[in-house]
Amino acid sequence: MTFDVVDIIRAKRDGHRLTDAQVDWFIEAYTAGAVADEQASALLMAIVWRGMEPDELARWTAAMIASGDRLDLSGVARPTVDKHSTGGVGDKISLILCPLVAACGAAVPQLSGRGLGHTGGTLDKLETISGWRALLTNDEMVRILGEVGAVICGASGDLAPADRKLYALRDVTGTVEAIALIASSIMSKKIAEGTDALVLDVKVGSGAFLPDIHMARELASTMVGLGEAQGVRTSALLTAMDTPLGLTAGNALEVRESVEVLAGGGPADVIEITLALAREMLELAGVDADPAVALADGRALDTWRRMIAAQGGDPDAPLPTADHVEIITAPADGVLQRLDARAIGIAAWRLGAGRARKEDPVSAGAGIVMHAKPGDAVQAGAPLLELHTDDPARIDAARQALDDAITIGAVAPDPSPLVIDRVRAS
Ligand code: URA
Repeated sequence: MTFDVVDIIRAKRDGHRLTDAQVDWFIEAYTAGAVADEQASALLMAIVWRGMEPDELARWTAAMIASGDRLDLSGVARPTVDKHSTGGVGDKISLILCPLVAACGAAVPQLSGRGLGHTGGTLDKLETISGWRALLTNDEMVRILGEVGAVICGASGDLAPADRKLYALRDVTGTVEAIALIASSIMSKKIAEGTDALVLDVKVGSGAFLPDIHMARELASTMVGLGEAQGVRTSALLTAMDTPLGLTAGNALEVRESVEVLAGGGPADVIEITLALAREMLELAGVDADPAVALADGRALDTWRRMIAAQGGDPDAPLPTADHVEIITAPADGVLQRLDARAIGIAAWRLGAGRARKEDPVSAGAGIVMHAKPGDAVQAGAPLLELHTDDPARIDAARQALDDAITIGAVAPDPSPLVIDRVRAS
């Protein structure tokens, strides 16, 4: 059946539910290049304003999945479970979580991306490890998943190609910020990767993609509904992202910190979020194991080493460091009350850790090391932040981003939970 795309645009403009046949046709025709970008843009803008009914969105997501391959992981002997984070500053959790959950007996097939904007990308971080390869064939991915239980790699061009086209168009037409479009974009890619179960880490706060808790909650429950509708057991944790996670933001710096956590040390907030997500993943996968034990007894570190080596990386190679380090000292005595995640993310990005356009290179060593987190006592003149960069000319712009990043006061801030809520299928 073919449709006139202008009728579809008008229907959504006037607030109607698109029929299943209209949705299927539009996604297929746009992916194949038979619908012009300006017409797809008009439809996306109408969706931003009018939204979609839950069953209409489920159909839209199913059509996006059907636009490409869905990986078949049925040959993997263990239950498969993945995690997706909506992105945060210092969010290195995947690096620790994937080997940890694999060490507990599940298999984690994580297709990941590169960073854009103020949040870092998991592949950029892993690529700082000498020899490590992000691009695997589907056969290699399935083999490593069977042998090691964890794989983190880039998605091939054949998974959800409709999303690749639509996301690029949304980026330049002011149509990214719509719950229906964000949820279908994320879930089409995750469902196409073939996992049995999925835990979503939806970040809330200044450093998050959606700072507002109500929007984050709605995104979480929409994505959980879409996953369940496709037969993927799905749940979400809403987690705090007002403060960066851990004490580092930047590619190799975050790998170093992740290895510290895998070796039984590392910052308490990173450990807490990792264990909360691991427990959620293991429960959805039906695996009865305590991830805290696998972290403490070295099994997670052992799986990390095998995961890195299976993709050509040398887990013992020294990590790259930046050529230049500048120290920012505390301006006063007191207690650190606020360390703004977005400001730290933007500063790390300006130091070279992130990219402005997807084809830009990133610096392996650039980023920020934090010497204190909210609640810690600080002393005037003592180091508070280290700015790492290969290019000292970047320091001024990074300092500007940090102008209003820090509050020091007399009393400690009220403690707030890192895991704010859990969203499960109703
Ligand atoms: N990440 C995605 O993959 N898609 C969106 O629409 C937004 C964030």
